[in-house]
Amino acid sequence: MHSRIAGTGRYLPERVLTNDELALNVATSDEWIRTRTGIRQRHIAANGELTSDLALAAARRALDAASLSVAELDLIIVATTTPDVVFPSTACILQAKLGARGGPAFDVQAVCSGFVYALAIADRMITGGLAKNALVVGAEIYSRILDWSDRGTCVLFGDGAGAVVLVPSERAGIMSAHLHADGHYKDILCVPGTVDRGAVTGTPFVHMDGHAVFKFAVKVLAEVAHEALTANRKTTADIDWLIPHQANIRIMDATAKKLELPLDRVISTVGAHANTSAASIPLALDVAVRDGRIREGQYLMLVGVGGGFTWGSVFVRW
Ligand code: UT7
Repeated sequence: MHSRIAGTGRYLPERVLTNDELALNVATSDEWIRTRTGIRQRHIAANGELTSDLALAAARRALDAASLSVAELDLIIVATTTPDVVFPSTACILQAKLGARGGPAFDVQAVCSGFVYALAIADRMITGGLAKNALVVGAEIYSRILDWSDRGTCVLFGDGAGAVVLVPSERAGIMSAHLHADGHYKDILCVPGTVDRGAVTGTPFVHMDGHAVFKFAVKVLAEVAHEALTANRKTTADIDWLIPHQANIRIMDATAKKLELPLDRVISTVGAHANTSAASIPLALDVAVRDGRIREGQYLMLVGVGGGFTWGSVFVRW
């Protein structure tokens, strides 16, 4: 028994914020942002729009693509760092909005690696007999945890959601998963704040050591891709598409270079979406599925890295 992805979907909030618009309020420029990150624009959730709303729209599209009804769903996992509320989980809120009930629903908090973690868990729950049809979503509203006066972070992130439906399969769709974390790097990318007796304590904004994150990301993304290739007795030449966490085009290019993979086999949506944390990989996946680049039988290498630090890969046969 294996699992495979039967459908994908995405949702991006209507409002697009360009680099030029950002530069009206903070000391930056379109040229700086494009050359350092590859980002041209990002989507921003409307006031009152919640992470579960973004997740709902992406989920409905994934269910449609998979031709699966809500009633057939028996597992919902949402990877998010920006939940609607402290609790209940965004997955439970999404379950109610979808009109599903009964099956387990929970959030995974692994920051930008969240989708890879969630996909690995859903695969093991299906192959282990704990679930049959799973909805796995990455959904984020980073615009609410950014200090919009800090040009070092506010230019990098955006809002959005991507979803996949995972179903049982006789042939392996999910070929392998490898997950890692090292909490010793907890301070180089974090939101060091929380709620304490009715007030926010600490700083409820993204804090980042950009250089340290850059170096760490390139190192572990290449390592974890190699780990997956070795486990599957494959080589870089077998990767049809590398779908990395969409943090920065330079991180993605450097990772491809370390793997000796041509850049035209890397799916990149960071220019249009910016870094949407746990949503970035399923967003990129859905774009490439719907524009026809990803075709049956191809091998996809999904690699994530993020705060924690966390990192991991899922190797997929489409
Ligand atoms: O999911 C993971 C999330 N995090 C990341 O992906 C971040 C990884 N790191 C990076 O992507 C890069 O380190 C950055 C894009 C954040 C920065 O690029 P960099 O080439 O490492 O620039 P830098 O930090 O060395 O800064 C160069 C200059 C500095 O000015 P001085 O000190 O040379 O005068 C910065 O103050 O650029 C300045 N700067 C900016 N200038 C215009 C920093 N941010 C901006 C900005 N606009 N937005």
